[in-house]
Amino acid sequence: MDLHLEEELWFGETDDAPAEAAAARSLVARTARIVNLRPCPPVVTVLLSLVTRRATSVADMRRVIEADPTLASRILRLVNSSAFALRNRCTSIEHALVLLGRQIITDLCVAMALLDVQAGHAEALQRNVRMHSSAVGGVARQLAMMLGIPTDEIFTAGLLHDLGKILELQLGEAEGYASLLERANDWPDHLHIFERKRHGYDHAALGAHVLRAWKIPEPLPMLVALHHQPGRAISVGGDLASKTMVLRLADQLCYLFDEEDMINEASIEAISRTEAMTFLDLSAADLTAQWNHLRQASQDSQRLFTR
Ligand SMILES: [Fe+2]
Ligand SMILES: [Fe+2]
Repeated sequence: MDLHLEEELWFGETDDAPAEAAAARSLVARTARIVNLRPCPPVVTVLLSLVTRRATSVADMRRVIEADPTLASRILRLVNSSAFALRNRCTSIEHALVLLGRQIITDLCVAMALLDVQAGHAEALQRNVRMHSSAVGGVARQLAMMLGIPTDEIFTAGLLHDLGKILELQLGEAEGYASLLERANDWPDHLHIFERKRHGYDHAALGAHVLRAWKIPEPLPMLVALHHQPGRAISVGGDLASKTMVLRLADQLCYLFDEEDMINEASIEAISRTEAMTFLDLSAADLTAQWNHLRQASQDSQRLFTR
């Protein structure tokens, strides 16, 4: 492995423009833009156009969401789940729009619709990515609440952070990408390096590009773009850095939850040395104390996506 390349990516010393341009030129991105991703239902397109208009009312948004009863009921299930920890039960889409805001509900509708895709290629792998993404959403939100970091779009960012992988499997050369995923299996944080060597871009750049092309507002595309580049996130600073680190830690924890049922001191010790833990000022003891809560959040969130 080319460690030089890895370090440059890691610390954000590379110019990301070539990777972004390569992602934009890729067949996967072109297809996603042209067909607006086959499974992207009309309700999502309408919501995205409505949410950016000032004149749009809550009632307008409610009507659009309720026109898709499956989506409406899943949104209600989601906002009433432990991930959102609302004091009172949310009983209607209108209530959800008022409580959480139009943008968050729209983001959630988009993420739900995109993660719900049933496509022919490499279905098992796509399912794995979706299960992983929903777990990361739940854990990231739990971590943000625990740390007093604004939770706004963090759940959706978790749901969408690996969207680029799903797009590659659906619209790219699924077999080649599947073997790349397999190769990176033991190295979850190295896949983007393999991808950049092979395609000139990675799933983070691709996901961010496609989200921007679909007019999903910042900071979601930026969080997705930076989720494997902690150095770059830190150099941007502010909420973006904290949220990226929360996303990174949630990502790492979810890989661990897949492997281990019980608290494993060696694994916690290893995670506690990561840049995300240092940046968020968390210790191994903090993580041990929250382990069961975080694990529960990952399982609760995964259940929301398995029907
Ligand atoms: Fe990723
Ligand atoms: Fe991930």
